[in-house]
Amino acid sequence: MSPALPPEDAFAGPFPLASLDGPEPFEERLERWRKELSDAIYGPLPPAPAELEVEASPLRGSPAERIEITMRSANCTRDLVVDAALWRPESRGDAPLIAGLGFAGPAGILPGPDFPLDTRARIHCGPELGVENGRLHDVLRGTESHRWPVGMLTARGYAVMVSCYGSWAPDDPDEIMTHGAYPFAGLDTGAISLWAWAIQRLLDTAELLGGIDMAQVAVAGHSRLGKAALWAAANDTRIGAVLANNSGCAGAAPAGHAVGETLDQMAAAFPHWIRPRGGAAALDQHHLIACAAPRKVYVASAEQDLWVDPAGSYLALVAASEVWPETCSWPGIEEMWTGARQTRHVALGHHLRPGGHELLPYDWQRFQEFLGEVRA
Ligand code: GCU
Repeated sequence: MSPALPPEDAFAGPFPLASLDGPEPFEERLERWRKELSDAIYGPLPPAPAELEVEASPLRGSPAERIEITMRSANCTRDLVVDAALWRPESRGDAPLIAGLGFAGPAGILPGPDFPLDTRARIHCGPELGVENGRLHDVLRGTESHRWPVGMLTARGYAVMVSCYGSWAPDDPDEIMTHGAYPFAGLDTGAISLWAWAIQRLLDTAELLGGIDMAQVAVAGHSRLGKAALWAAANDTRIGAVLANNSGCAGAAPAGHAVGETLDQMAAAFPHWIRPRGGAAALDQHHLIACAAPRKVYVASAEQDLWVDPAGSYLALVAASEVWPETCSWPGIEEMWTGARQTRHVALGHHLRPGGHELLPYDWQRFQEFLGEVRA
């Protein structure tokens, strides 16, 4: 069967991505881009909580542990308590970590009934799943196990930590104000920043738990959680690798490429996600990717998922690669689309897979090849 030809709709012609050169030394340029992205799109990341404590307990009938994370603000006016699950590999010694937020969190991954459902979490979830008002519900148990194939990852020697994004910042324009990181931090910012902050707290948690090799930390996220993973990586150098799956608008997809969702459409549908305060129009998503340099970045797309602009996301990664010390050679866009579907360099990687908007074991196999197989 011949490979699918690029649909005309996917390309939309050449488009300018501003140069990443600048007058300042590289580190200062990165700082400026972070600040400008925060002003132009996401809003600020809250500071780390004054105190963070973790408690691990075994989970009945499962190799996972339940981790309770308690955070205290500087003025001690309120606590924030969120849970996560941790799967450890059998191998001895400190394990490399893959951490991230999931839509239904640990309950969505674990098949059994034992992980408690956070009744205050609010998640985005179609009514066809039988869930009302975005609440976590028993019917969601195990429905996301294909998105986080923890058995496959622990067998390869990784520890995996996942938490429910809606526990950290409810995915709802009203509820976000009353529960989670927004009222805890007392800072007017967007949900993508709050989810990025949540990813940072998972790393604080990993540091405290021990048994994790903090020099080998990857964070992964799908779609809106891919946006959050990229923004977290842009801001936290503990993240050694970011795996951004189908991250789209405000993720890897540049606004300057007229395919898929626009920032205005996103802000209209999800007004709580971003907090633009005006600012640098010359900045685009290749700046976001570049903020993770010289650490590892992998961008993954699917050919039918034009809403997240696979072609533009690839070109943003290619443009960003300029600032990495290694010289990368990338297939042209048409060649990538019709044949060279995966490209891997030491620190940068990309694939386009058949199919639509999902995070699948196929994507994880490619991610693992990129991270380098860790032996159990
Ligand atoms: C919507 C939204 C996207 C987002 C996606 C998701 O499609 O418009 O920006 O990435 O949801 O998170 O699944």
